Amino acid sequence: MPARLEIDGGVPLRGSVGVSGAKNAALPALAAALLTEEPVRLTNVPGLVDVRTMGRLLETLGATVRREGGELTARAARITSDVAPYDLVSTMRASVLVLGPLVARHGTARVALPGGCAIGVRPIDQHLKGLARLGAEIAIENGYVVARASRLKGARIATDLVTVTGTENLMMAAALAEGTTVIENAAREPEIVDLAALLTSMGARIRGAGTGRVEIEGAPDLGGATHRIIPDRIEAGTLIVAGAITGGDVTVADLVPDHLSALIAKLEECGVPLEVGATSVRVRGPERPLAADVTTSPFPGFPTDMQAQLMTLLGLADGQARVTETIFENRFMHVAELARMGARIETDGAIAVIRGVARYQGAPVMASDLRASAALVLAGLAAQGRTTVSRVYHLDRGYERLEVKLAALGARIERRA
Ligand code: EPU
Repeated sequence: MPARLEIDGGVPLRGSVGVSGAKNAALPALAAALLTEEPVRLTNVPGLVDVRTMGRLLETLGATVRREGGELTARAARITSDVAPYDLVSTMRASVLVLGPLVARHGTARVALPGGCAIGVRPIDQHLKGLARLGAEIAIENGYVVARASRLKGARIATDLVTVTGTENLMMAAALAEGTTVIENAAREPEIVDLAALLTSMGARIRGAGTGRVEIEGAPDLGGATHRIIPDRIEAGTLIVAGAITGGDVTVADLVPDHLSALIAKLEECGVPLEVGATSVRVRGPERPLAADVTTSPFPGFPTDMQAQLMTLLGLADGQARVTETIFENRFMHVAELARMGARIETDGAIAVIRGVARYQGAPVMASDLRASAALVLAGLAAQGRTTVSRVYHLDRGYERLEVKLAALGARIERRA
């Protein structure tokens, strides 16, 4: 039987906990190692299943990947294959991040089309349109994207919508293109800024990362670099909500408060007392949170990756709240599981209406995707009685030893094989 988590809820969490490096910054950073024959050394890399999957993918393309503790060195002295196979891409959509680097460095790339996933359809048309603007020939053959180019050429690209990995793919491709590329309507997430910092240490010239207009001056080749991955803002947010939902007193350390502004503002609106330090947030659980409406949007708006966790808190709020999910069309799968714990939530398309209940009851529940699993763990921490969260492999994709961190704060939580 796959691993599950058993949680005996109702313990207010207390103490201090550190945040790990960001999954969604580590994945593009690893892909960026394909842009150079020299080693790229990354520090503060979280020990996650998704990071291992990306490491395996780099190895299938010819790179060597060495890990020592939180340090990971990837070296693609030669590209020996241009294929990102379906079995890897289908387990992790972010595999598509190798497309831009491969075609830019190697001249060809064959990447399995990711198809849908638990949270939505998730097309990659913007990645492909952007690469075509850079001069790549794109074809779809037997479920694979095949991209070819002798040397990419800088261009002006305006994406139809804001896409995080799309912006990253195009930045990496443009870094080896001839001439200057401008990406309009670029994503502004902190992970974009982190990738730009890595590419800059590799020798690329990039302006405007973190704004909607990123300009990249391509270079004929890039060199190795050492780079520290930023803290994971979603893990940080999840731990802050854990403190709030249990009525505890928790200091979440090693984070960047500016990356969490929308969440901090929303929690304050929910009546959650927060003390924001230079690199930490102390949260003290309110008697009962207040209801507040929230709409997800690209950074600096409220992150879709915190929607499920916030909804779990709103499920216990005094009043009625509305959550509108604008990024992914199927990201309410935690709702049915929360209902099994006593939550009163109704959904209609992209909108969920939550009428707060006084408490959750422990129940066996099933994780459906990464952030939904985190939401169920939070509900279990607050619930009366025992909650068993099954299919925790979803959680392990994106949280480094979450149950160990929570147990250190006093939670009664155990992993069972
Ligand atoms: N979209 C398109 N066409 C494209 C690209 C995106 O229609 O070519 C749509 C998507 O279907 C979605 C919206 O645009 O509706 C935004 O998607 P985006 O491309 O920004 O998402 P992503 O890059 O695939 C990253 C994170 C996700 C996070 C989203 C939104 C990584 C590896 N993944 O995905 O993280 O939810 O941005 O912030 O960075 C997670 O960590 O749990 C996770 C799902």
